Amino acid sequence: MTDLITSVRDMQAVCADARQRGLTIGFVPTMGALHAGHGALMDQARAESQVLAVSIFVNPLQFDRRGDFDRYSRNLPLDREFCSRHRVDLLFAPSAKDMYPLPPRTFVEVTGISERLCGEFRPGHFRGVATVVAKLLNIVQPHTAYFGQKDAQQLSVITRMVDDLNMPVKIIGVPTVRERDGLALSSRNSRLTREERAVAPRLFQALQTALQTIQSGCCSAAHVRQTGLDVLSRDPRFRVEYFEVVTQADMQPVQEIDGPVVIAAAVWLGATRLIDNVTVECTPPIYPGSH
Ligand code: PAJ
Repeated sequence: MTDLITSVRDMQAVCADARQRGLTIGFVPTMGALHAGHGALMDQARAESQVLAVSIFVNPLQFDRRGDFDRYSRNLPLDREFCSRHRVDLLFAPSAKDMYPLPPRTFVEVTGISERLCGEFRPGHFRGVATVVAKLLNIVQPHTAYFGQKDAQQLSVITRMVDDLNMPVKIIGVPTVRERDGLALSSRNSRLTREERAVAPRLFQALQTALQTIQSGCCSAAHVRQTGLDVLSRDPRFRVEYFEVVTQADMQPVQEIDGPVVIAAAVWLGATRLIDNVTVECTPPIYPGSH
């Protein structure tokens, strides 16, 4: 059974001891409600490290809506079993009081990336994410930390924070795990009604359509975006927050696609917000007269 550690002090001591013994520590931060997406991060970390640490902490600092924080699914015994099945050594599940004994006065803000896309609709969200991840990295001091490409903007924020602040950890991005019909796994999927669940894969289809537009030689981000939006607009239940083509490194908007990009989208389906993205590695051929 995975060891459960609930105090910051104990976690610091156990991790320091492992490091002193020369063991490499891989770390997967989560908010619990664990699913196969988290499992993929754990499995990669397990394969690449001697000690595998996972955290479960529903971080109040990153929720812009109180209701969303209250409704977040919490089941530690079930999550601990999940961790045991994925051969996790240390499960760190601190209380909010232990993580924030005083109202925090120190925050980490990754400017220029955090305000865009999700940040525009969830003010303060990435400040909360960067701050708690900085704290967790300070507590665990892992050699490598694993994040899902599903949250591409979060991955970009964390990678930049670690670079800017010279934090001695390697950040690894892990590909998105999907249902068979393409829907990206997310703890929020369980909030979808049956009808909403049935149409939810359309988000991934829209991203695929936009991707195919690039692969067919189109370099105009506006046109690419429109082909994706057209797919979503065929179902009135989707309310689009954003659907954008951005640079892979720092999520900046592009007009002409001439390098690696991410097509990222956020939509509401009923009362549930879904996000997803696809990365486009290759540079499309430039055809004269293409869009
Ligand atoms: P959470 O939503 O629990 O996600 C934890 C990690 O799992 C993140 O790195 C996320 O990108 C990854 N993940 C989620 N769904 C995935 C999927 N379908 N495929 C691959 N990876 C997936 O993200 C957070 O928690 C928090 O913001 C956190 C980083 C823990 C800070 O509080």
